[in-house]
Amino acid sequence: MSTVKLTVNGKSVSATVEDRTLLVHLLRENLNLTGTHVGCDTSQCGACIVHIDGKAVKSCTTLVGQIDGANVTTIEGIAKGDQLHPMQAAFRDNHGLQCGYCTPGMIMSAIDIVNRHASDLDEETVRQELEGNICRCTGYHNIVKSVLDAAGRMKVAQAAE
Ligand code: FES
Ligand code: FES
Repeated sequence: MSTVKLTVNGKSVSATVEDRTLLVHLLRENLNLTGTHVGCDTSQCGACIVHIDGKAVKSCTTLVGQIDGANVTTIEGIAKGDQLHPMQAAFRDNHGLQCGYCTPGMIMSAIDIVNRHASDLDEETVRQELEGNICRCTGYHNIVKSVLDAAGRMKVAQAAE
């Protein structure tokens, strides 16, 4: 057992966990942040993706004990009150989801993709970068459209800050 301190969606969290505890289990079972999903047991689907210190990471393959002191953001932490994050709004407006199971992971990945590629983001890059996120419903076209749309919206939002 070890005691780990984290910041999760801006709040300080202290947890005493077994060494084998995965971040996705801490989020869902201890902190009740169930927007982060588990869609596989092979680290392929990306439904569990969150941000650790601003970078997209699969929480199903991250041990809590590895990330003492980290800043974790989940899908529950990206809207500002009632105002959706630009990526969430773009998924809504471009029909980038159907059942929604993959969507939290898609959105957290997509924000990281836009942050890393800034102005050189194109359709091919989005498709390549989303390789680690599986969607079983949409056929991906509207997801790619959503990410490209959100890239523009995020630029506008950043300029306004
Ligand atoms: S649950 Fe993490 S990659 Fe599928
Ligand atoms: S919207 Fe159903 S799995 Fe992607």
